[in-house]
Amino acid sequence: MSSAIMHADAAGLVDERDVLIEIAQHLPDVISLGLGDPDFATPAHIVAAAKEAMAAGRCDRYTPPAGLIELRRAIAAKLARDNGIIADPETEITVTTGGQEGLYAIVQALLDPGDEILVPDPRYSSYDAAIGRAGGVIVPVPTRQEDDFDLRPAEVERRITPRTKAILLVTPGNPTAGVIAPAHLRQIAQLAIQHDLVVISDEMYEQFVYDGAEHFSIGSLPAMRERTITLNGFSKTYAMTGWRLGYVIAPPALTQAIRAMKASISIAAPAISQWAGIAALDGPQECVAQFRAIYDERRRALMPALDAQGFTYGHPYGTFYIFTNIATTGMPAFILARKLLEEAHVLIFPGTGFGPAWSDYLRLSFLQPTPVLMEAVARLEGVLRG
Ligand SMILES: Cc1ncc(COP(=O)(O)O)c(C=O)c1O
Repeated sequence: MSSAIMHADAAGLVDERDVLIEIAQHLPDVISLGLGDPDFATPAHIVAAAKEAMAAGRCDRYTPPAGLIELRRAIAAKLARDNGIIADPETEITVTTGGQEGLYAIVQALLDPGDEILVPDPRYSSYDAAIGRAGGVIVPVPTRQEDDFDLRPAEVERRITPRTKAILLVTPGNPTAGVIAPAHLRQIAQLAIQHDLVVISDEMYEQFVYDGAEHFSIGSLPAMRERTITLNGFSKTYAMTGWRLGYVIAPPALTQAIRAMKASISIAAPAISQWAGIAALDGPQECVAQFRAIYDERRRALMPALDAQGFTYGHPYGTFYIFTNIATTGMPAFILARKLLEEAHVLIFPGTGFGPAWSDYLRLSFLQPTPVLMEAVARLEGVLRG
């Protein structure tokens, strides 16, 4: 549980980020560097395909729980093209209502109560909720700023016990922006084979890597095919968070269990989003390159601005976040985040939203135009000097 505010209400647990979002709603001119929600419009050709499918009456019915076969084929082609993963659309691909549902269905299908799952720390906190509800036990594997938040295979190995069922990897990583080196992924694959473990590979941010970093899919290793579950989606790559569309690649037996779980949650992903997804994967990819170039430009503007404040960070090789070390302020992350929000109207999430140990960090998302980001940093400086 978080060191600062984590309190229960009727709907369950509310974390610090919800507290900050609630405060922000009552303030004027808030600049949000909080949520991981791209600020771009969904590319026009994707929207046009959705409109066309709707007008043609192709969105009026449930699709199969596994997803439209046309979309599963487009996903299989994309995996072969970009990831070196060979997956059978009939038996190994499941379309989900967002990666979030995919994640939930995976852990429900995979974990029995008491099973241990190794998860890099800090981590996307939805893992905790999903794994906890499946009765699984999260075993955090520390990552470090000095390693640019790469994952050390030795740290993984040290935590494997007879109860370990799976290793969860996120590369590029939320919240750290770290990328796991391909050599490390190969070593982790060896560990998984040696100890008969499943690897869940969350590749949501695969398209956003910079400065020569390379995205590598662990599921492309031949001996890993039968033990890897790959999670991906459309939210980040195509600025489609609102469409709620993701997908899961898993060996046939696991896919059956994942599909059954998916069907009991939502029957099928929305048909309109699935037709949009086909256009996204089969259509021109320049939009993705443009997003990447803009994120990179923002990132290059933000890094020196943070340096000038005396902040440090692991080099952000991926995503659209910077996991910023604010230890020099002497303030715990939530206190600082709240101060920045109340005094400067800048919303930034505290590191403790991603694991209790991370009270010296803030996660900044750069999903605002560069001048707005610079304005946010100037406001931040005002508060710190004030
Ligand atoms: C690492 C990671 N995985 C999965 C998701 C879920 O994304 P979605 O449900 O929008 O596909 C997110 C969203 O922020 C994420 O950061």
